[in-house]
This record gives sequence, C-alpha cells and structure tokens, in this order.
Amino acid sequence: MFAKVIVAATILGQLSCRASFALAETTEKRLNNGLAQCNAASAKYALATANSSVSLGLKDLGYQYVNIDHCWSSQSRNSTGYLVPDPTKWPNGIKAVTDQIHGMGLKFGLYGCAGTKTCAGYSGSQGYEVKDAQTLASCGTCSSPAGSTQTWYAKMRDALLSVNKPIFFSMCQWGRDNVWTWGADYGNSWRMSTDIWNNWASVVRIGSAAAGISQYAAPGGFNDLDMMGIIAINQDPLGKAATYFRPKGAPAPVSGQLYPYWAGPLSDGVVIGLVAANVSQTLSVSFSDVPGLGAGTFNWVEYYYTGRSGSGTSVSFSLGSHDMAVVKVTNPSATVPAPTAAPTSATAAHYGQCGGISWTGATACESPYTCQVSNDYYSQCL
Ligand SMILES: *[C@@H]1O[C@H](CO)[C@@H](O)[C@H](O)[C@H]1NC(C)=O
Ligand SMILES: *[C@@H]1O[C@H](CO)[C@@H](O)[C@H](O)[C@H]1NC(C)=O
Ligand SMILES: *[C@@H]1O[C@H](CO)[C@@H](O)[C@H](O)[C@H]1NC(C)=O
Repeated sequence: MFAKVIVAATILGQLSCRASFALAETTEKRLNNGLAQCNAASAKYALATANSSVSLGLKDLGYQYVNIDHCWSSQSRNSTGYLVPDPTKWPNGIKAVTDQIHGMGLKFGLYGCAGTKTCAGYSGSQGYEVKDAQTLASCGTCSSPAGSTQTWYAKMRDALLSVNKPIFFSMCQWGRDNVWTWGADYGNSWRMSTDIWNNWASVVRIGSAAAGISQYAAPGGFNDLDMMGIIAINQDPLGKAATYFRPKGAPAPVSGQLYPYWAGPLSDGVVIGLVAANVSQTLSVSFSDVPGLGAGTFNWVEYYYTGRSGSGTSVSFSLGSHDMAVVKVTNPSATVPAPTAAPTSATAAHYGQCGGISWTGATACESPYTCQVSNDYYSQCL
C-alpha cells in the first residue's frame, strides 16, 4: 500500500509541474452544462453560466469551473485533423470566451471523448490525442475528456502533459474497471458511477458505492460522484472523503443501501453526515462513536441547512425523508467559521433540467427561458 502511494505521488508530481498540482489540491467544483441538449455547448451559454455563477454567489462558494459538454465542435475534424469550434456556436472562437471567463476569476473546461465518437456522433479523440490536447491548451482551457479504457486515458494524460499548461483532467468512464484503484495515476478525478438522475434511487446507488471507495480520494485525485458532494466541505485541503461509521448498537450497513451514519476527517476537525434514507426520523450520534473524535466535549455546527450549532458530547437531528444534516465538529479551542449562506432562488434555474423520463422536479423555467425537451433524457431551460 505504501509503495503504491509513493508511485501515485511520483506520477502526480509530474502532473503537478507540467499540468495541474495546484489546481487539483482540492476536487473540482463546477457548473457543467452537460445535462443539456447540444445547443447549450455555445459561447452564449458558457458566458451566461459564468455570469450566474457570480450572481448566484456560487463562485464565492468555490465553484470555479464552467465546463462545456460535447457538441462544442463541428461534427468533423478539419482536413489537418484538428477539432474546430462550431462557428455558429462560437462566433469569435473559444479563446475569446475563455478569456472573458478567466477575467471573471473562473476556469473553463471542455469535453473530449476517449473513443472515436461522442454520444451525439461528434468526433472523439482516439488517435488524435496530441492534436486535441493542443487545441484545448490553445483555447486556454482545462479539459474533461471522457471515454473508456486505461490505455486511452494514458494517451490523453501524456498528451495533456505535453502541452505544458495547467489542466485539471476529469475522467469519465462511469466507474468501469475499478477506476478508483488506478485513476490517480492518470487524472485528477474520475467518475465512479453512472450518471445521477433526478431520483432518490440514483442518490442511493452513488452514495452507497462511494462509501466503499473513500480511501482512494486524496489531494490530486478524487472520486467524482457526478453532481453529488459538491458542497463547501469537499474543498477541505486535507482532501479526504467521508465514509460510513457504525455507532454502538446500530445495525451494520447493507450493500447497495444508504447508511445513515457518515464521517470523515477535515484539516480542522471532523465532518459527520446523518442521512434519513427512507423515512422521516431522528438520528443521534455520540461523538465518542465517531472516528477521529472520542470522549469529551466538542463544538459543532450544522453547516449547510440550519446553521444550528452547539457544544457537547453528541448531536441529534430530526430529519425528513431523504434529508441530511452535515455537521462539522471541532475541539473547543478551535474556531468554527460562520456557515456560508446558501444561494437562493436557484430552484427553477435558467439552466437546470426541466423534463424527461423520471423527472419529478420543476418544469417551469425562469423568464425568459423556456423548457426544451430534446429527447427522453435531455432537457433544459434555454
Ligand atoms: C453577464 O453579465 C454582464 C454584467 O452584468 C452583462 O453585461 C452580460 O450581458 C452578461 N452576459 C451574459 C451572457 O449573460
Ligand atoms: C485546422 O485547425 C488547426 C487548429 O485550429 C489549424 O491550425 C489548421 O490550420 C486547420 N487546418 C486547415 C486546413 O484549416
Ligand atoms: C429503504 O427502503 C428499501 C425499499 O423499501 C428497503 O429495502 C431498505 O431496507 C430501506 N433501507 C433502509 C436503510 O432503511
């Protein structure tokens, strides 16, 4: 195990000087416009998403990446084999847009595909890794290629390193081949499951799988839970993931089900997650049962939803079904920072999903946007 960690550190060391160590100290917080139809991969929506990140206060919460999904390029490469930004979507080219986004203090990401074609039939990077890495770097971008096998990721990693720009390499092959066991040698994050959907079952699927692989996350390489886990706590510089712990007297976790008790170390304390997986319930935990804590009195604050705080030997929360309390615990001499205000009015967002199979959320869009359902799965306020 120790040897493996050293090997990973060495390879990340190479990534760091030429690509991305500083960027990858904590995991990527991003606003992907990927659940969208192809039309959203444009300058207009990239800039509008960046604007929203600032105006909704998301930038201040640490969301620094605006990532563009596939369909940003023309369907085919040009005659010398390069991807070309679709001129109708990027009338002034991509660099003009990334310059503006960088000017807003944000970073920009583009999608690439490790195979031969993206899901929408656009050109993939297989065989063109170095050319595509050059394109991404010349746009001033950070990149998020997606695809499948270890070999392809090695080629793209090496191609990205060859262009000598800081790039966060976010890999997406939906958790195949136990990517968490090797991903840190290839990129900065790896999707560990198939896509999240707007239903509780997919939260259970991803959350319960993530609990078993928390040990693979560390600064420089992270499990990517799709849209989950994107809360300020995951920017802690220690870069450790939370996982299940079993309080005295509690039943054992069951594979594939979401366990109520979560904890993980932070650089300045311990985070506890209490999840009401199926029904409304009161969940209580003694700090003496929590890894990293123990007997004694601790300060705590429920960080994200209620702002409740206190001091003692335990916490207890009454939670609605599918609700969660996230509690940061510190020792009494440590200072607990004030909770960050959650952004408001982001429910029927300009860019959120608004329809399609299994969608049970809002179908209204903020004016002047309207809900456009492009197929059974992809919909967006545009
Ligand atoms: C972004 O915000 C600026 C300033 O509020 C505004 O001038 C610009 O039109 C906005 N751009 C987009 C694409 O929404
Ligand atoms: C193809 O695109 C690349 C990168 O933008 C460019 O350098 C090259 O000149 C283009 N080739 C042709 C034939 O237009
Ligand atoms: C949640 O509900 C499912 C389906 O009814 C059941 O199988 C499971 O045991 C429940 N899980 C928990 C943690 O109570």
